[in-house]
Amino acid sequence: MDATTRIEQALAAAIDRVAIPGCPPKLVEAVRHAVFPGGARIRPRLCLAVAAACGSRDDAAADAVAASIELLHCASLVHDDLPCFDDSPLRRGLPSVHRAFGEPLAVLAGDALIILAFEHLARTLSATPERLAPLLLTVSRSVGMPHGITAGQAWECEPRVSVEDYHRAKTGSLFAAATAAGAQVAGADADAWRIVGDRIGEAYQVADDLRDVAASAQEVGKPVGRDALLNRPSAAGELGVDGAIDRLRQLVRAAVEAIPPCPGAEQLAEVLMMESRHIMPKGLAERAA
Ligand code: IPE
Ligand code: IPE
Ligand code: MG
Ligand code: MG
Repeated sequence: MDATTRIEQALAAAIDRVAIPGCPPKLVEAVRHAVFPGGARIRPRLCLAVAAACGSRDDAAADAVAASIELLHCASLVHDDLPCFDDSPLRRGLPSVHRAFGEPLAVLAGDALIILAFEHLARTLSATPERLAPLLLTVSRSVGMPHGITAGQAWECEPRVSVEDYHRAKTGSLFAAATAAGAQVAGADADAWRIVGDRIGEAYQVADDLRDVAASAQEVGKPVGRDALLNRPSAAGELGVDGAIDRLRQLVRAAVEAIPPCPGAEQLAEVLMMESRHIMPKGLAERAA
C-alpha cells in the first residue's frame, strides 16, 4: 500500500473509533472537516519515509505515529485560524472550521484532535509500553512548552523573537517529531534524526512565508499577505524574496547532510530534494532554479 493510502486510512480509523453514536454530531462533523480533505500531509509522509529508510517492519506502529502527528497538525491549524490568532476565513480552499461551525466548536474540535492524537498512539502501542513511552515523549515535546507549537504561537504575544526561533517552535518542532518518531519506530536513535526534521520544517516555513508574499489565495487555498498585515516575523519580510530563497536552499541542504547512516539514506535524500522542489511557490520556482 502506498504512503498516501496508509495515511488516509490511519486518520480515518483513528477518527471512526471515537466518532460513534453518543458523541455530539456537530463535534464529529467539525473534526472531520479539520482533517478531510487533507492538505500536503507532508509531516506523516516524512515520518513514514524515515521509518522506511531506517528499516521499520512495524507498519501499524509507523501508521499510528504518522497519523497522530497529522492530527496534531490539523488541530494546530484549526486553532491558528481562530479570530484570536490569525482570523482566517479559509483553509485548504474551504471555510475554516470556525467559519463553518462557529468558534466554540472550533476550539473544541482542536482540543479533541490533540487528545485523539495521544489516545490513538497509546491505544495502538499499548501492548509494548517500552516503545510507547519514548514515542509519547517525542510527540508531546513537539507541541508543548518550551519549544513546541504552543510556544511557537505564544511568541506572537511577545514584543521580540528571532524569525528562526519562531519558525523552529511553530513549525520545525513537529517536523522534528516526524523524523525522530519515524526513526524510533524502527528502533533507531531519535536524537540523530531530530535535526533532519528541524531543518526541513524550517525550510517549509520559509517556503510558506514566500507563498504568503508571492502566491495567490486560489493557489494556496488560504488568504495571502497575512504576515505583513498581522506583523508576524517572516523570512520573506526579513531577508527579502531572494534572501529567503537562499535560506530555503541552505536549510534543505543542511537537512540532507544531516541524514544519519541508514539502509535507505540515499533514497530519503532524493525524497527530501523532491519535496523541496514542490514546496517552492510556482511563480518563484524559476527564480530559485
Ligand atoms: C501550514 O502547513 C502551516 C505551516 C506550518 C506552514 P501545511 O502547508 O502543511 O498545511 P496543509 O496540511 O498542507 O494544509
Ligand atoms: C501556522 O503558521 C503554524 C502553526 C503552528 C499552525 P502560519 O500561521 O504561518 O500558517 P498558515 O499560513 O496559517 O497556514
Ligand atoms: Mg499563525
Ligand atoms: Mg495562520
